[in-house]
Amino acid sequence: MPAYAFFKKQFMPLSEAKISILTHAFHYGTACFDGIRGNWNGEQQQLYLFRINDHYERLLNGCRLLKIKLPYSVAELSQITIQLIEKSGYREDVYIRPLAYKSSEAIGVRLHDLEDDFLAIATTLPPYLDTEKGTRCGTSSWRRIDDTMIPARGKITGTYVNSALAKTEAWENGFDEAILLTHDGHVSEGSGENIFLVLGGKLVTPPTSDNILMGITRDTVMKIAKKELGIDTEQRSIDRSELYIAEECFLTGTAAHISQVIEIDHRPVGNGKTGKITAELQKIYFEIIQGKNPKHIHWCTPVYVKQVATQHSQSQQ
Ligand SMILES: Cc1ncc(COP(=O)(O)O)c(C=O)c1O
Repeated sequence: MPAYAFFKKQFMPLSEAKISILTHAFHYGTACFDGIRGNWNGEQQQLYLFRINDHYERLLNGCRLLKIKLPYSVAELSQITIQLIEKSGYREDVYIRPLAYKSSEAIGVRLHDLEDDFLAIATTLPPYLDTEKGTRCGTSSWRRIDDTMIPARGKITGTYVNSALAKTEAWENGFDEAILLTHDGHVSEGSGENIFLVLGGKLVTPPTSDNILMGITRDTVMKIAKKELGIDTEQRSIDRSELYIAEECFLTGTAAHISQVIEIDHRPVGNGKTGKITAELQKIYFEIIQGKNPKHIHWCTPVYVKQVATQHSQSQQ
């Protein structure tokens, strides 16, 4: 599959999209990005982009934090993404990586007096966490970056050194994923996922003020838990020790989907198997992202509109 990029305002083969080694964002982490999934629905021969507008709204908020000015609206960014996938012709699950960055070839730490640019890559992504076996987590010795240091609500590239330190520490200690605590010891999130606990049959997840990324999967889970299962989510600070007494625990993210956590710090979560509520949410979520649930189809943007329309009109002839 030829991989394409949108780079310097045009579509081109990924192999031709190159930045200068002097690019500001490369030196100082002055960029923000997002991750969007396209989910292939074989029955409908359709690729659905999940909550693409929400992803681009978050990206544009990240741009505000970094004083990046893009000449594109959410609708234009979505259109670029659709064209990018159409060019590549993917007929499988895809992952889109848009990135807004300080593109000047300039030395000097700052956000002002620099040029900005936008790029996007469409690629495939192997499963990020194992949703069959479950994830084993370790609490990190690294603390989650605080809003007073780098805004945690933006997907700012530089911030991901914090995540990378935690992830690799967890991996070297034999875990699959890290759970980061805030500076005052409350549970914040995984290195690239939000976290939920089931306590007393209800969902509990850390609030924005505990330096989480405002995850789109997190929001999706809260909405479907309420609508489909009648379960409320409490957004409140979580103590570390609550991780050890939770009935269920799962991580959420565009890359990680809904991944059950089966062990934390060598303690089994619940009975060490996928919990009932987690399994129900996973089932509903996977149907929704593949455009199989008409109630939530407004979250799914079809890529191959023309083709489906053509097939439809052909079948009517
Ligand atoms: C640090 C962090 N937290 C949470 C998430 C989950 O966010 P979303 O569900 O929007 O992908 C991500 C992934 O983007 C992330 O990088």
